[in-house]
Amino acid sequence: MCGIAGCVGHVNTPGLVVEGLETLQYRGYDSAGIAMQNDGQLEVVKTIGAPGNLRKQFDVNATIAETAIGHNRWATHGPVNMPNAHPHTNETGTIASVCNGTIENYKQLRAELTYNGYSFSSQTDTEVIPHLFDYYLAEGAEPENAFRQALGRLVGAYAVLALTDQDPGALYAAKFSSPLVLGVNGHEHIAASDTVVFAGTTKQATFLEDHDMVRLIADEPPRITSVKDSGSVVRVPEDIEDIEKKVGKGEFEHYMLKEIFESAETVRDATRGRIHPEDNLVKLGGLESVEERIKDTSRIVIVACGTSYYAGLIGEQLIEEIAGIPVEVQQASEFVYRNEPFDKNTTVIAISQSGETADTIGALKKADELAMLKLGIVNSLGSRIYRNTDAGVYCHAGPEIAVASTKAFTSQVTVLTEVAMALAEKSNTLNKPLMEELVALPEKIEAMLADTSAIQAAAKKYADYKNFLFIGRGYNYPVALEGALKLKEVSYIHAEGYGAGEMKHGPLAMIDEDFPTVALATDNPQLEKTMSNIEEIRARRGPVLALATAGNKEVEQTADDVIYVPASLEQTQPILNSIALQLFAYHVAVEKGLNVDQPRNLAKSVTVE
Ligand code: AGP
Repeated sequence: MCGIAGCVGHVNTPGLVVEGLETLQYRGYDSAGIAMQNDGQLEVVKTIGAPGNLRKQFDVNATIAETAIGHNRWATHGPVNMPNAHPHTNETGTIASVCNGTIENYKQLRAELTYNGYSFSSQTDTEVIPHLFDYYLAEGAEPENAFRQALGRLVGAYAVLALTDQDPGALYAAKFSSPLVLGVNGHEHIAASDTVVFAGTTKQATFLEDHDMVRLIADEPPRITSVKDSGSVVRVPEDIEDIEKKVGKGEFEHYMLKEIFESAETVRDATRGRIHPEDNLVKLGGLESVEERIKDTSRIVIVACGTSYYAGLIGEQLIEEIAGIPVEVQQASEFVYRNEPFDKNTTVIAISQSGETADTIGALKKADELAMLKLGIVNSLGSRIYRNTDAGVYCHAGPEIAVASTKAFTSQVTVLTEVAMALAEKSNTLNKPLMEELVALPEKIEAMLADTSAIQAAAKKYADYKNFLFIGRGYNYPVALEGALKLKEVSYIHAEGYGAGEMKHGPLAMIDEDFPTVALATDNPQLEKTMSNIEEIRARRGPVLALATAGNKEVEQTADDVIYVPASLEQTQPILNSIALQLFAYHVAVEKGLNVDQPRNLAKSVTVE
């Protein structure tokens, strides 16, 4: 939540920062702002809405600035308005700062600063930062020390960038519990919430750790010190060439559509070098270091949120069926409160696209306290979850910009299939056909995406309904849950996912001609039962849009409309089915003229609990 970017020493620091904010737009788009400093003079420009609006307010390319810092806001404290937009400044406008995170003790700090004569112009928690910086400068501290002392007063999670006229040309940055990474490119430095900001400009990044602060000056190596004791800290830059792919919409109207269309490639990338059907071998290099501990695993708990949680529900079925290990999936935000008995042979698997989800990080902290083995299935290399797990398997989906997760979900399910096979006995008879199917999937996805007209037609027909049920059984049950989430997320239509067998236990009461059901009716051992559920809905005049396996004509005799998907194994069918439902949600949102990539009230990285 919220994205920050800052730059020193670039030929066009304002341009780089605004472009960076545009790339980070997935982290928040309630308001945006930039502070630029030249010859010690600070200028702040803010806008409501997307960071691209900043371009209308000043000439981004012609403005000269030695340093610049910017922010995309996802509102937490105070409504969306100009005073609450970052950057925030001290009263005299000589200090500017931006913050991603939440300052838990801000009320106390505000009271204290007010007592000391400071006044506030926003309702945000983060306005205390420039005032604290100002306070310690006024006390006579050197800028670096004043910044450190200000940070020392903060309780919460933050990544902060700051500029002060008392150290012109310097950019101060610090992090605690929110992501902050440095890109170094010869003369210039960039500090940002995500490495995607550096795509195409730097090949190496330095990931700051909690309690790190840094002073950045053009032409000088970053000086990283500890907020706690001001001692020097060494952070070794890491190669990020593999992380980044060119970020852009290409020929697509929206990122969400582009990312759905990248699914074939990402499934391919998630299997490359890992599965060897000819040798009946799954090789997950990321798990090798903990092989012995994995062997002792008697139970697995998967923790995740949202779409990643639904991927976990598919993973649960895969691991239990293929590896025979009992699995439980918990919403990370609930896992932290439960007092269930765990033994040391319980392994926790955290699934996260961003690797920065606060609830999932909280769940890992608890796993740490219980000395459990922590594995990660993460898409963002270098992210907090990636770094806070003992080992893991990378999703290889590439940057996902649209708030609605699509290709990352299909990669997560692909990886979970691989993990299930890796945990299984070598003699498992399912592994070989599953591996062959994973190899075949990208072509099936491509075939499906070559003609999406039936999905578009269905979206047009169903876009005006106010409520939807999504139903499925077995491996299709989590797909129904995820299909419903995708629809509500981008189209704001109320949608619920249910196990098809649950219909008669309540939800059927809602069915009438105005309440459509999306039924996951692809070939699987439960299809006959699902067909009965469809009949029951049709008998109550409920419209049914079914997903069926290509060639199965039985479904269209019962459902009102059918979207056909290629046949796959029961265990891998969710990948194809969920792509169809992602496209359905996308086209419904487009029909409704909504901002598909940035749905209201949401942000891509949920870094607050
Ligand atoms: C997905 O479409 C959502 N935007 C959301 O549910 C997301 O999956 C969830 O916040 C978890 O994020 P993560 O995978 O980055 O941890």
